[in-house]
Amino acid sequence: MPSYVVTGASRGIGLEFVRQFSQDPSNVVFALARNPQNAIKLHDLGKTASNLHIVKGDLDDVQSLKAAAAEVAKVTGGSLDYLINNGAYTVVEHAKFNVTQFPDEKTLEDDLIAAFRTNVAGVAHTINIFLPLLRKGSAKKVITLSTGLADTDVILSTGFNVNPQYSISKAALNMLIAHYAVTLKDEGFIFLALSPGVVNSAEKPPSPEDVEDFKKMVKRFQEYDPEWDGVPLTPQKSVSLMRDVIAKVGPKDTGAFISQYGNKKWL
Ligand SMILES: NC(=O)c1ccc[n+]([C@@H]2O[C@H](COP(=O)([O-])OP(=O)(O)OC[C@H]3O[C@@H](n4cnc5c(N)ncnc54)[C@H](OP(=O)(O)O)[C@@H]3O)[C@@H](O)[C@H]2O)c1
Repeated sequence: MPSYVVTGASRGIGLEFVRQFSQDPSNVVFALARNPQNAIKLHDLGKTASNLHIVKGDLDDVQSLKAAAAEVAKVTGGSLDYLINNGAYTVVEHAKFNVTQFPDEKTLEDDLIAAFRTNVAGVAHTINIFLPLLRKGSAKKVITLSTGLADTDVILSTGFNVNPQYSISKAALNMLIAHYAVTLKDEGFIFLALSPGVVNSAEKPPSPEDVEDFKKMVKRFQEYDPEWDGVPLTPQKSVSLMRDVIAKVGPKDTGAFISQYGNKKWL
């Protein structure tokens, strides 16, 4: 019975990972959400998926992660096969600024720290807390969602300079994953920093301003990769592509930072 933990499972890509994993009744799936009581779509899924367990887990709250690991261990007998670190601080308050535009030093510093707390420290805590279970699992795969925006070449080529706290924290996350990879290589672990592509995970229709911002982003990204059609992936498609990558990677790939296509093609 392969077991999966997915963080940030209340909505978006995390919810879709949970939906796809729970479709196979031989899997046991743990959906971690920081506010499970508000995760309506997750509860709807739970009504039909008897192999799905909804558990509280906040990346900014170590105690909640420890309690989640204890709950998972109770069901699985102390093991875990796959950890999907999907949850992230994505919607940052001052996402429209570039690094020179923050109104004051404190705002810049607070934003950088908030993104680091969740996207770097929160992921490290999650991995460390679930490590005893993962050591007893058979897959030993730890997949952490990153982004092409954490690739220095992408930033330099596209000139995409807004939301710096997000891409800076994800670049640090890639290095965190490299550290786990070398530290646990001899134990047969496979760590990946995996970008899902550009995915429409929005819950609400975009505002006219969002549409304009998106058009500008598409233009920049198409200059970087003229082959890209400018259409975001659905969560279904992105997760299905990522699942193929997750199934294929082996010990030689540990520590890699790759995309939904299993390479450095981000779009
Ligand atoms: N969508 C894209 O185009 C794209 C592109 C590149 C990379 N990614 C990466 O893919 C992953 C999922 O993206 P998404 O688009 O689905 O994001 P999203 O729609 O913004 O959802 C983020 C998820 O993370 C959860 N979360 C936020 N802070 C958390 C915390 N402190 N503890 C636990 N969970 C927390 C949210 O929970 P609440 O519901 O409680 O807020 C939500 O479930 C992220 O790691 C993101 O960086 C996405």
